[in-house]
Amino acid sequence: MSLALAVLASGRGSNFQAIQAAIERGSLDASVRLLLSDRRKAPALDIARTHGIEAVHLPYDRNDREAFERKAGDLIDHQGCDLVILAGFMRLLTPYLVQRFAGRILNIHPALLPAFKGLNAQQQALDYGVKYSGCTVHLVTEDMDAGPILGQRVVPVFEDDTEPTLSARILEQEHQLYPECIAGYGKTFSPPP
Ligand code: GRF
Repeated sequence: MSLALAVLASGRGSNFQAIQAAIERGSLDASVRLLLSDRRKAPALDIARTHGIEAVHLPYDRNDREAFERKAGDLIDHQGCDLVILAGFMRLLTPYLVQRFAGRILNIHPALLPAFKGLNAQQQALDYGVKYSGCTVHLVTEDMDAGPILGQRVVPVFEDDTEPTLSARILEQEHQLYPECIAGYGKTFSPPP
């Protein structure tokens, strides 16, 4: 089946762009129906508009996180999306959205989980002194960066790496891994009744 995707992004949107590129070249049987951002100025919104994809800025209220998620959930359902793709979405989801789309939310993390969860994963890897790091695509559960792993890619860490050089090496792999994992997950996925 062709998957209908909702992408949630807070910033740059390079993973979203890689997913859209994979769709356009025919290596991912899907369509992005909705790009949703908590940040008005997120470049991801402009990328969506360039591709004629519905782009929505939904303001985030720290004091009422569920209100944001209820609105997001309604938009996602309204567009008939099968999967929710977190691509640089910088907000932790509450159990509300995780339960509403249980088993249908994917995330990409710039480290080899379960190592270096949370923010600044690339810097955490450098600080620890690991010789290899990478990226992980996983299902989102209520515990941060802890859901079942769908795929990983490994990159070497060099002595003279800095946060930007390591991040760039990992990002290159993210752009290949995410579309592959969505395609793979889509093969086993059946929409809820
Ligand atoms: C990526 O490094 C991703 O792993 C992390 O946030 C970053 C998003 O980058 N979750 P982009 O917005 O997709 O360019």
